[in-house]
Amino acid sequence: MLTATFSLTAAAQQASAPSSPALQAINVRKAIFTLIGSNFRPVGEVLQGRATYESVDLPKSANRVAFLAGLLNDAFPDNSAVGDTKARPEIWSNRADFDKRVKDFQDHSAALVQVAAGEKSGSDAFRAGAAAVGQDCKGCHENYKVK
Ligand code: HEC
Repeated sequence: MLTATFSLTAAAQQASAPSSPALQAINVRKAIFTLIGSNFRPVGEVLQGRATYESVDLPKSANRVAFLAGLLNDAFPDNSAVGDTKARPEIWSNRADFDKRVKDFQDHSAALVQVAAGEKSGSDAFRAGAAAVGQDCKGCHENYKVK
């Protein structure tokens, strides 16, 4: 019994062993982007004509993306530049431009929330608002994410 308890404890410690602050920060960042990706996907599918506007809960998606965008200010601490990450070093050497892109993404996401609150169709306002957010993803990835 005792032996079993000890080995279980050892296994649990081993499973959670590699948890340096840097690793944690990178894992949190990846989790945020995974959620941004899964929540923006339905919106992107409407934009691309692969889903109908009616099939998507736009207020829900937009609100979630806007909330998650707000987490990005804390998602790139200095200690998280190196490791198992696709974040390019230019984020830290070109911080003003990067921060501006984060801010644009937050502003456009918030604007899409406003559009979603008033929309009942895939209007031009919806398309323009969603496309602006999509451009933010693309632009930042092209400059600051390893392919
Ligand atoms: C301001 C820059 C920026 C913006 C805006 C941005 N991304 Fe990213 N994204 C990144 C960086 C940097 C990474 C790499 C993170 C890492 O590996 O640590 C990333 C990674 C990802 C990943 C992969 C996550 C993983 O586990 O590796 C997905 C999915 C993603 N982004 C989707 C999106 C979508 C969708 C949008 C727009 C709705 C978006 N991103 C907007 C910079 C950005």
